[in-house]
Amino acid sequence: MFSRRAQWNAPPNRLALARARHPHALDLTESNPTRAGIHYPLDEISEAFARAARAPYEPDPRGIRSARETLAEHLGCDAEDLLITASTSEAYSFLFKLLTDPGDNVVTAIPAYPLLEHLAQMEQVEQRTFAMEFHKRWELDAARMPIDDRTRAAIVVNPNNPTGSYVTRPEQDAIAARGVPIISDEVFVDFDFSRSSDTRPSLVIPSVARNPGGRAARVKSVPAPPRPGCDGPASRGTRAGGRRAT
Ligand SMILES: Cc1ncc(COP(=O)(O)O)c(C=O)c1O
Repeated sequence: MFSRRAQWNAPPNRLALARARHPHALDLTESNPTRAGIHYPLDEISEAFARAARAPYEPDPRGIRSARETLAEHLGCDAEDLLITASTSEAYSFLFKLLTDPGDNVVTAIPAYPLLEHLAQMEQVEQRTFAMEFHKRWELDAARMPIDDRTRAAIVVNPNNPTGSYVTRPEQDAIAARGVPIISDEVFVDFDFSRSSDTRPSLVIPSVARNPGGRAARVKSVPAPPRPGCDGPASRGTRAGGRRAT
């Protein structure tokens, strides 16, 4: 009945079963900011929505210009280089459509963000993997990337889920030197509390500038505020959106 791309057999894993057994345990895998007890300035947010509701509707397929300009200022880039999507997953699906034909592949290091396998499968793209190695830290050796003539992109998750490891500048340079387009998922990049120059998040961009292909896309997420009208953690069940792809 369903297409091959949607044929999944996904029984609950051990973590899901344990969570169901212990509903009150502190869940360190919880990544939904609306359930993390964060205080949002709800009045200001509601006012901003009210102002926006009075403005004329001027759709732009790349995302509202004023939002892209604000983000560009924050990121120190040009609004023309930004494209806002509803989620990181949507950004991945756009990038796979842009870069690949069915049967092409993308390469990524493992342990990898588990959803990547499904996102690739939904676009009929093969996910090729290579192992990271742990030597005091998780190391990513670009020489091991299984690139072939159907490889259309290297996916870098920086910092990686689930290892939490950043991709260092030398590692990013080595990835860029392999000459395939880079999709850099930086949703957790702001958690780099070490501020080490060796793990600086924006390193993919200078690396790519030196890449003969010079192609890269960053996917980055900005947690959106809760819906106006929600006034407390108990009612903050809505999913955060407002992600951007750069
Ligand atoms: C590596 C990575 N990318 C992206 C996301 C978020 O995806 P989305 O914006 O589609 O919810 C997550 C969420 O856990 C993640 O771990």
